Amino acid sequence: MNPVKHVAIIMDGNGRWGIKHKNSRNAGHKAGLNSVEGVINECIKVNIKHLTLYAFSTENWRRPKKEINFLFNLLENFLINKVDSLIKKKIKLKFIGEINKLPKNLKKVIKNSELKTSKNLGLQVNVALNYGSKNEILNSIKLINKKNIKINEKNINKNLFTKGISDPDILIRTGNTHRLSNFMLWQISYTEIFFEKKLWPEFNLNDFRKILSKYKLVKRNFGSI
Ligand code: FPP
Repeated sequence: MNPVKHVAIIMDGNGRWGIKHKNSRNAGHKAGLNSVEGVINECIKVNIKHLTLYAFSTENWRRPKKEINFLFNLLENFLINKVDSLIKKKIKLKFIGEINKLPKNLKKVIKNSELKTSKNLGLQVNVALNYGSKNEILNSIKLINKKNIKINEKNINKNLFTKGISDPDILIRTGNTHRLSNFMLWQISYTEIFFEKKLWPEFNLNDFRKILSKYKLVKRNFGSI
């Protein structure tokens, strides 16, 4: 049976859920937070070490300003309101992506929540925010050049946003869309991928548990036989 150390999720389908149920895409983003909390609690329960959530991509800047602001506010309020409960659950928060390019207030809340949870030894939740995988790989190579060290796999790993984090064992994408959308392209070379028909706000514990059970039965041979 395969142990699960790291689950990564592309939380797709919020907008469509909002239109279907409440007539606004933003209502879908808000509802998506319930699924985030459910998955976090289950990861703690089954002793998963890392959960990486794709919250905002470098391409998401192409969305209407109103939706972008809503998403940033939602995240900011989530962090402000939930940080104490995250600490109680021993969760460590880490943000991966070009955080410096985010609005000042959000950056402040991010830094604060990372600092406040930095000593926690339980589940590490990595939030990919203003994240793009191609940008991350390019950035890693630029850092390697600057440090004047060898370009090899080990050094590329060490200079990614995800340095020190094991590669995901499982990648889940909800929303019935079969693509990777510039997410962790380097890190998922041997990850088991699960595409889920349900929209992110509909994704429940039963769905998550089913995927974990399926994964445990997969024979992972990493290129051998
Ligand atoms: C994709 O759905 C979802 C997002 C771009 C945002 C996800 C963010 C959250 C659930 C809230 C914040 C997260 C954390 C970690 C607290 P979409 O809008 O692309 O959906 P669509 O495919 O239906 O348009």
